[in-house]
Amino acid sequence: MYETASRNEESPLAGRPNVKRSSMNRYFKRPYAAGIMLLLAGLTACQNPRKNGADGQDFPQKERYRAAGEKLAAQAQASLMQQVKKALREGGPVHAIDYCHAAADSLTAAAAKQAGARISRIAQRNRNPANGLETKAEKEAFAALAQLAPRYDTSLVRAGAKRVTFFKPIPLAMNTCLKCHGTPQKEVAPETMAAIAERYPEDKALNFKLGELRGAWKISFPKVLGE
Ligand code: HEC
Repeated sequence: MYETASRNEESPLAGRPNVKRSSMNRYFKRPYAAGIMLLLAGLTACQNPRKNGADGQDFPQKERYRAAGEKLAAQAQASLMQQVKKALREGGPVHAIDYCHAAADSLTAAAAKQAGARISRIAQRNRNPANGLETKAEKEAFAALAQLAPRYDTSLVRAGAKRVTFFKPIPLAMNTCLKCHGTPQKEVAPETMAAIAERYPEDKALNFKLGELRGAWKISFPKVLGE
């Protein structure tokens, strides 16, 4: 369908039939449409067979949504890490607890907004109650990602009726993470435990080991390219 979308862009100049022009207008009536087109355009489709291997479903433009998701997830992950590390340096784990938030930095937020994308993190053993697996799609995607252990070098792309959703594993890849997600007392200091318990009484995100699947990025895009 991207083929058609790019032809649509040319259609006013090329004097193509009205029907195509009006469908282009329909795309651009939505404020995010131009943004997502920009984000999706120019990103090369990833042909890594392992990337597609975990992912049964197939639909047009899947790889373009994947590339857009990878880009936003990488940006969000990098800025989150930077934020947590800086906070740890400045005030240790108790202070840094308030910084392992998906509340993306302004750059990620702006890129996401332009694409009409929604970014969040989800987890089976979640700390923030808002990050639990709620929908059937989330549960299925998370189970599929968990099966990839110990190599989480892949992502999933799922098409719904109105949106396309990208899921990317967040492995517990660094010792730093264990300061707040590892074994209580041993890796997570008592004062950190107390601060976590106070803010997150229903916390399920302790006792992780290096290499386990900690969570996943969930990024949903409006389906502007049509199917
Ligand atoms: C300083 C403590 C701290 C460190 C270090 C830390 N986290 Fe977190 N993590 C938290 C807190 C607190 C939350 C809940 C954030 C919120 O309310 O959204 C959280 C939430 C998460 C979530 C979202 C799902 C959920 O359970 O709510 C993921 C995924 C996650 N952390 C992964 C990591 C990874 C991977 C690392 C290492 C790179 C890491 N964290 C390091 C404290 C920490």
